[in-house]
Amino acid sequence: MASSDVKVHIATKEDMGAVSALTVAEEWNYPVEYLETLRLLDPEGFFVAKKGDEIVGTGMAIDFDDDFAYFAMSITKKGHRKQGIQRRIFQERFKHAGDRNIGINSANERRKEVNTEIGFTLISHQVSCFRGSVDRDALPSVGMLQSSKYKILPLSSVSFESLVNYDASVVTFHRANFLKLWCKSTGCVTFVSVNESGEILGYINARPLMGDFSVLPLIADNAEIAESLFLTLIHHLPDNEFVKVHPVLTNLAAVELAKKYNIQELLYTITCQFNKNILPVKLDKVFSTSGPEII
Ligand SMILES: CC(C)(COP(=O)(O)OP(=O)(O)OC[C@H]1O[C@@H](n2cnc3c(N)ncnc32)[C@H](O)[C@@H]1OP(=O)(O)O)[C@@H](O)C(=O)NCCC(=O)NCCS
Repeated sequence: MASSDVKVHIATKEDMGAVSALTVAEEWNYPVEYLETLRLLDPEGFFVAKKGDEIVGTGMAIDFDDDFAYFAMSITKKGHRKQGIQRRIFQERFKHAGDRNIGINSANERRKEVNTEIGFTLISHQVSCFRGSVDRDALPSVGMLQSSKYKILPLSSVSFESLVNYDASVVTFHRANFLKLWCKSTGCVTFVSVNESGEILGYINARPLMGDFSVLPLIADNAEIAESLFLTLIHHLPDNEFVKVHPVLTNLAAVELAKKYNIQELLYTITCQFNKNILPVKLDKVFSTSGPEII
Protein backbone atom coordinates (compact mmCIF):
# COMPACT_ATOMS: atom_id res chain seq x y z
CA MET A 1 0.00 0.00 0.00
CA ALA A 2 1.06 3.59 -0.54
CA SER A 3 2.75 4.97 2.50
CA SER A 4 0.49 7.41 4.31
CA ASP A 5 2.93 10.27 3.68
CA VAL A 6 2.00 10.22 -0.04
CA LYS A 7 -0.78 12.63 -0.99
CA VAL A 8 -2.42 12.96 -4.40
CA HIS A 9 -3.12 16.55 -5.52
CA ILE A 10 -4.44 18.31 -8.59
CA ALA A 11 -1.33 19.44 -10.45
CA THR A 12 -0.52 23.13 -10.84
CA LYS A 13 1.33 24.96 -13.57
CA GLU A 14 4.31 25.12 -11.18
CA ASP A 15 4.37 21.30 -10.94
CA MET A 16 5.01 20.88 -14.67
CA GLY A 17 8.81 21.20 -14.25
CA ALA A 18 8.88 18.22 -11.87
CA VAL A 19 6.47 16.27 -14.11
CA SER A 20 8.76 16.98 -17.06
CA ALA A 21 11.65 15.53 -15.01
CA LEU A 22 9.57 12.35 -14.46
CA THR A 23 9.13 12.03 -18.23
CA VAL A 24 12.86 12.61 -18.82
CA ALA A 25 13.65 9.69 -16.46
CA GLU A 26 11.45 7.50 -18.71
CA GLU A 27 13.10 8.93 -21.85
CA TRP A 28 9.77 10.40 -22.93
CA ASN A 29 11.36 13.86 -22.57
CA TYR A 30 8.21 16.00 -22.52
CA PRO A 31 8.97 19.71 -22.33
CA VAL A 32 7.18 21.86 -19.73
CA GLU A 33 5.29 23.80 -22.39
CA TYR A 34 3.78 20.66 -23.94
CA LEU A 35 2.79 19.37 -20.49
CA GLU A 36 1.18 22.69 -19.68
CA THR A 37 -0.90 22.43 -22.87
CA LEU A 38 -1.99 18.93 -21.79
CA ARG A 39 -2.78 20.22 -18.28
CA LEU A 40 -4.92 23.05 -19.64
CA LEU A 41 -7.04 20.54 -21.58
CA ASP A 42 -8.57 19.61 -18.21
CA PRO A 43 -6.81 21.28 -15.25
CA GLU A 44 -8.89 19.40 -12.63
CA GLY A 45 -7.86 16.05 -14.13
CA PHE A 46 -4.05 16.27 -14.01
CA PHE A 47 -2.76 14.70 -10.78
CA VAL A 48 0.55 14.49 -8.97
CA ALA A 49 1.48 12.32 -6.00
CA LYS A 50 3.67 14.11 -3.47
CA LYS A 51 5.85 12.81 -0.66
CA GLY A 52 6.41 15.98 1.31
CA ASP A 53 7.41 18.47 -1.38
CA GLU A 54 8.72 15.85 -3.78
CA ILE A 55 6.60 14.85 -6.78
CA VAL A 56 6.87 11.05 -7.01
CA GLY A 57 4.12 10.26 -9.50
CA THR A 58 1.69 11.66 -12.02
CA GLY A 59 -1.35 10.70 -14.11
CA MET A 60 -3.85 12.57 -16.21
CA ALA A 61 -7.57 12.22 -17.00
CA ILE A 62 -8.93 14.47 -19.72
CA ASP A 63 -12.73 14.80 -19.77
CA PHE A 64 -13.24 15.68 -23.43
CA ASP A 65 -17.02 15.98 -23.18
CA ASP A 66 -19.88 14.61 -21.06
CA ASP A 67 -19.43 11.10 -22.44
CA PHE A 68 -15.75 10.56 -23.10
CA ALA A 69 -12.48 10.82 -21.15
CA TYR A 70 -8.89 9.76 -21.76
CA PHE A 71 -6.24 8.63 -19.27
CA ALA A 72 -2.56 9.21 -19.93
CA MET A 73 0.86 10.09 -18.47
CA SER A 74 0.99 7.31 -15.83
CA ILE A 75 4.40 7.55 -14.19
CA THR A 76 5.68 6.70 -10.72
CA LYS A 77 9.25 7.74 -9.97
CA LYS A 78 11.77 4.90 -9.70
CA GLY A 79 12.44 4.11 -6.06
CA HIS A 80 8.77 4.73 -5.19
CA ARG A 81 7.17 2.02 -7.32
CA LYS A 82 5.14 -0.97 -6.11
CA GLN A 83 3.80 1.05 -3.18
CA GLY A 84 0.35 1.64 -4.63
CA ILE A 85 1.03 5.22 -5.76
CA GLN A 86 -0.25 4.74 -9.28
CA ARG A 87 -3.24 2.82 -7.94
CA ARG A 88 -4.16 5.92 -5.90
CA ILE A 89 -3.70 8.22 -8.89
CA PHE A 90 -5.97 5.89 -10.91
CA GLN A 91 -8.64 6.18 -8.18
CA GLU A 92 -8.61 9.98 -8.53
CA ARG A 93 -8.76 9.72 -12.30
CA PHE A 94 -11.72 7.34 -12.23
CA LYS A 95 -13.47 9.70 -9.79
CA HIS A 96 -12.80 12.63 -12.12
CA ALA A 97 -14.05 10.79 -15.23
CA GLY A 98 -17.23 9.56 -13.49
CA ASP A 99 -19.54 7.56 -15.76
CA ARG A 100 -17.78 8.48 -18.96
CA ASN A 101 -16.44 5.95 -21.41
CA ILE A 102 -12.65 6.08 -20.92
CA GLY A 103 -9.80 5.40 -23.32
CA ILE A 104 -6.20 4.62 -22.38
CA ASN A 105 -3.01 3.70 -24.26
CA SER A 106 -0.79 0.81 -23.23
CA ALA A 107 2.91 1.04 -24.05
CA ASN A 108 3.65 -2.69 -23.75
CA GLU A 109 2.15 -6.11 -23.00
CA ARG A 110 2.44 -5.70 -19.21
CA ARG A 111 0.55 -2.39 -19.30
CA LYS A 112 -2.07 -3.94 -21.57
CA GLU A 113 -2.52 -6.73 -19.03
CA VAL A 114 -2.77 -4.35 -16.05
CA ASN A 115 -5.06 -1.93 -17.89
CA THR A 116 -7.31 -4.84 -18.86
CA GLU A 117 -7.40 -5.95 -15.22
CA ILE A 118 -8.46 -2.51 -14.03
CA GLY A 119 -11.39 -2.36 -16.46
CA PHE A 120 -10.05 -1.45 -19.91
CA THR A 121 -11.13 -4.78 -21.35
CA LEU A 122 -11.95 -3.54 -24.86
CA ILE A 123 -8.89 -3.63 -27.08
CA SER A 124 -9.08 -1.24 -30.04
CA HIS A 125 -6.39 -0.16 -32.51
CA GLN A 126 -2.61 0.12 -32.35
CA VAL A 127 -0.64 3.24 -33.17
CA SER A 128 3.07 3.36 -33.98
CA CYS A 129 5.36 6.35 -33.82
CA PHE A 130 7.78 6.59 -36.76
CA ARG A 131 10.54 9.15 -37.18
CA GLY A 132 12.59 10.18 -40.19
CA SER A 133 14.06 12.98 -42.23
CA VAL A 134 12.26 13.57 -45.49
CA ASP A 135 14.43 13.55 -48.60
CA ARG A 136 13.38 16.94 -49.91
CA ASP A 137 15.12 16.57 -53.27
CA ALA A 138 12.85 13.63 -54.07
CA LEU A 139 9.68 15.51 -53.12
CA PRO A 140 7.00 16.29 -55.68
CA SER A 141 5.73 19.84 -55.49
CA VAL A 142 2.46 20.32 -53.64
CA GLY A 143 0.87 21.54 -56.88
CA MET A 144 1.45 18.17 -58.54
CA LEU A 145 -0.71 16.46 -55.96
CA GLN A 146 -3.22 19.18 -55.34
CA SER A 147 -6.24 18.40 -57.49
CA SER A 148 -8.45 21.15 -58.88
CA LYS A 149 -11.19 19.69 -56.67
CA TYR A 150 -9.60 20.96 -53.47
CA LYS A 151 -7.12 23.47 -52.16
CA ILE A 152 -4.99 23.74 -49.04
CA LEU A 153 -5.27 26.76 -46.79
CA PRO A 154 -3.90 27.88 -43.45
CA LEU A 155 -6.29 27.37 -40.54
CA SER A 156 -6.89 31.13 -40.33
CA SER A 157 -8.71 30.98 -43.71
CA VAL A 158 -11.49 28.65 -42.54
CA SER A 159 -14.05 28.92 -39.78
CA PHE A 160 -12.87 27.24 -36.60
CA GLU A 161 -16.31 25.77 -36.06
CA SER A 162 -16.11 23.95 -39.38
CA LEU A 163 -12.77 22.42 -38.31
CA VAL A 164 -14.32 21.27 -35.02
CA ASN A 165 -17.26 19.73 -36.89
CA TYR A 166 -15.02 18.00 -39.42
CA ASP A 167 -12.81 16.60 -36.65
CA ALA A 168 -15.91 15.39 -34.75
CA SER A 169 -17.20 13.63 -37.88
CA VAL A 170 -14.05 11.47 -37.76
CA VAL A 171 -13.23 11.04 -34.05
CA THR A 172 -16.97 10.88 -33.17
CA PHE A 173 -16.88 13.34 -30.26
CA HIS A 174 -16.63 17.12 -30.12
CA ARG A 175 -13.32 18.42 -28.92
CA ALA A 176 -13.61 22.16 -29.50
CA ASN A 177 -11.69 23.07 -26.33
CA PHE A 178 -8.93 20.65 -27.20
CA LEU A 179 -8.58 21.96 -30.76
CA LYS A 180 -8.64 25.57 -29.57
CA LEU A 181 -5.74 25.00 -27.19
CA TRP A 182 -3.95 22.59 -29.46
CA CYS A 183 -3.92 24.75 -32.58
CA LYS A 184 -2.80 27.82 -30.63
CA SER A 185 0.29 26.20 -29.08
CA THR A 186 3.56 28.00 -29.73
CA GLY A 187 5.23 27.05 -33.00
CA CYS A 188 2.47 24.77 -34.23
CA VAL A 189 1.04 24.95 -37.74
CA THR A 190 -2.30 23.80 -39.11
CA PHE A 191 -3.27 23.42 -42.76
CA VAL A 192 -6.75 22.57 -43.94
CA SER A 193 -7.91 21.02 -47.21
CA VAL A 194 -11.22 22.37 -48.58
CA ASN A 195 -13.29 21.60 -51.67
CA GLU A 196 -14.83 24.11 -54.09
CA SER A 197 -17.77 24.64 -51.75
CA GLY A 198 -15.46 25.37 -48.84
CA GLU A 199 -16.15 22.06 -47.10
CA ILE A 200 -13.27 20.62 -45.14
CA LEU A 201 -11.77 17.38 -46.49
CA GLY A 202 -8.87 17.06 -44.07
CA TYR A 203 -6.38 18.86 -41.85
CA ILE A 204 -2.88 18.52 -40.51
CA ASN A 205 -1.48 19.94 -37.29
CA ALA A 206 2.19 19.73 -36.41
CA ARG A 207 4.48 21.17 -33.75
CA PRO A 208 8.13 21.22 -32.72
CA LEU A 209 8.46 18.66 -29.95
CA MET A 210 11.52 17.03 -28.43
CA GLY A 211 13.81 18.19 -31.25
CA ASP A 212 11.57 16.88 -34.05
CA PHE A 213 8.44 18.10 -35.79
CA SER A 214 5.48 15.96 -34.68
CA VAL A 215 2.38 15.50 -36.82
CA LEU A 216 -0.49 15.47 -34.32
CA PRO A 217 -2.90 14.78 -36.07
CA LEU A 218 -3.28 14.26 -39.83
CA ILE A 219 -6.92 13.49 -40.64
CA ALA A 220 -8.18 13.32 -44.21
CA ASP A 221 -10.99 11.86 -46.30
CA ASN A 222 -8.55 9.88 -48.43
CA ALA A 223 -4.86 9.13 -48.98
CA GLU A 224 -4.43 11.70 -51.77
CA ILE A 225 -5.68 14.55 -49.59
CA ALA A 226 -3.57 13.29 -46.68
CA GLU A 227 -0.48 13.26 -48.89
CA SER A 228 -1.02 16.78 -50.20
CA LEU A 229 -1.51 18.07 -46.64
CA PHE A 230 1.64 16.25 -45.57
CA LEU A 231 3.63 17.70 -48.49
CA THR A 232 2.37 21.19 -47.69
CA LEU A 233 3.74 20.74 -44.19
CA ILE A 234 7.09 19.39 -45.38
CA HIS A 235 7.53 22.30 -47.80
CA HIS A 236 6.81 24.63 -44.90
CA LEU A 237 9.55 23.14 -42.66
CA PRO A 238 13.24 24.00 -42.65
CA ASP A 239 15.64 21.61 -44.44
CA ASN A 240 16.71 18.40 -42.69
CA GLU A 241 13.95 18.59 -40.10
CA PHE A 242 13.14 15.24 -38.51
CA VAL A 243 9.45 14.46 -38.59
CA LYS A 244 7.40 12.11 -36.40
CA VAL A 245 4.07 10.61 -37.46
CA HIS A 246 1.67 8.39 -35.50
CA PRO A 247 -0.26 6.21 -37.96
CA VAL A 248 -2.97 3.75 -36.96
CA LEU A 249 -1.53 0.39 -38.02
CA THR A 250 -4.74 -0.89 -39.63
CA ASN A 251 -4.75 2.17 -41.89
CA LEU A 252 -2.32 0.76 -44.44
CA ALA A 253 -2.41 3.93 -46.55
CA ALA A 254 -1.20 5.88 -43.50
CA VAL A 255 1.68 3.48 -42.90
CA GLU A 256 2.49 3.59 -46.62
CA LEU A 257 2.55 7.40 -46.61
CA ALA A 258 5.15 7.43 -43.83
CA LYS A 259 7.25 4.83 -45.66
CA LYS A 260 7.02 6.67 -48.98
CA TYR A 261 8.63 9.76 -47.41
CA ASN A 262 11.30 7.81 -45.53
CA ILE A 263 9.77 8.18 -42.08
CA GLN A 264 10.58 4.64 -41.05
CA GLU A 265 12.41 4.55 -37.73
CA LEU A 266 9.96 2.79 -35.38
CA LEU A 267 10.09 4.43 -31.93
CA TYR A 268 7.20 2.71 -30.16
CA THR A 269 3.81 1.06 -30.61
CA ILE A 270 0.87 1.61 -28.27
CA THR A 271 -2.46 -0.17 -27.94
CA CYS A 272 -5.64 1.80 -27.39
CA GLN A 273 -8.11 0.31 -24.91
CA PHE A 274 -11.53 1.35 -23.60
CA ASN A 275 -13.56 0.48 -20.52
CA LYS A 276 -17.16 0.79 -21.79
CA ASN A 277 -17.26 0.89 -25.55
CA ILE A 278 -14.75 1.14 -28.34
CA LEU A 279 -15.08 4.62 -29.76
CA PRO A 280 -16.13 4.18 -33.41
CA VAL A 281 -13.41 6.52 -34.72
CA LYS A 282 -13.16 6.43 -38.53
CA LEU A 283 -9.65 5.06 -38.44
CA ASP A 284 -9.36 4.93 -42.24
CA LYS A 285 -9.32 8.74 -42.13
CA VAL A 286 -6.69 9.00 -39.38
CA PHE A 287 -3.25 9.17 -40.99
CA SER A 288 -1.56 10.36 -37.79
CA THR A 289 -3.25 10.44 -34.39
CA SER A 290 -3.16 13.43 -32.06
CA GLY A 291 -0.41 11.78 -30.02
CA PRO A 292 0.26 9.18 -27.36
CA GLU A 293 -1.83 11.10 -24.80
CA ILE A 294 -4.84 11.76 -26.96
CA ILE A 295 -6.75 9.70 -29.45
C1 LIG B 1 3.50 1.63 -14.50
C2 LIG B 1 3.79 2.42 -13.23
C3 LIG B 1 3.17 3.77 -13.41
C4 LIG B 1 3.20 1.71 -12.03
O1 LIG B 1 3.34 2.56 -10.90
P1 LIG B 1 3.36 2.03 -9.38
O2 LIG B 1 3.17 3.19 -8.51
O3 LIG B 1 4.56 1.20 -9.17
O4 LIG B 1 2.08 1.09 -9.37
P2 LIG B 1 1.32 0.61 -8.05
O5 LIG B 1 2.30 0.42 -6.95
O6 LIG B 1 0.17 1.50 -7.80
O7 LIG B 1 0.75 -0.77 -8.49
C5 LIG B 1 1.60 -1.95 -8.54
C6 LIG B 1 1.25 -2.73 -9.78
O8 LIG B 1 -0.13 -3.03 -9.80
C7 LIG B 1 -0.75 -2.41 -10.94
N1 LIG B 1 -2.03 -1.80 -10.56
C8 LIG B 1 -2.29 -0.53 -10.25
N2 LIG B 1 -3.56 -0.35 -9.93
C9 LIG B 1 -4.13 -1.55 -10.03
C10 LIG B 1 -5.43 -2.02 -9.83
N3 LIG B 1 -6.41 -1.19 -9.44
N4 LIG B 1 -5.66 -3.33 -10.05
C11 LIG B 1 -4.69 -4.14 -10.46
N5 LIG B 1 -3.42 -3.75 -10.66
C12 LIG B 1 -3.15 -2.49 -10.45
C13 LIG B 1 0.22 -1.35 -11.35
O9 LIG B 1 0.07 -1.03 -12.73
C14 LIG B 1 1.55 -1.98 -11.04
O10 LIG B 1 1.92 -2.90 -12.03
P3 LIG B 1 3.44 -3.07 -12.47
O11 LIG B 1 4.29 -2.73 -11.28
O12 LIG B 1 3.58 -4.44 -12.93
O13 LIG B 1 3.66 -2.12 -13.58
C15 LIG B 1 5.35 2.55 -13.03
O14 LIG B 1 5.93 1.27 -13.07
C16 LIG B 1 6.02 3.43 -14.07
O15 LIG B 1 6.10 4.63 -13.90
N6 LIG B 1 6.52 2.85 -15.19
C17 LIG B 1 7.19 3.60 -16.23
C18 LIG B 1 6.25 4.46 -17.03
C19 LIG B 1 5.22 3.65 -17.77
O16 LIG B 1 5.54 2.65 -18.43
N7 LIG B 1 3.96 4.08 -17.72
C20 LIG B 1 2.84 3.43 -18.36
C21 LIG B 1 2.72 3.86 -19.77
S1 LIG B 1 1.39 3.01 -20.61
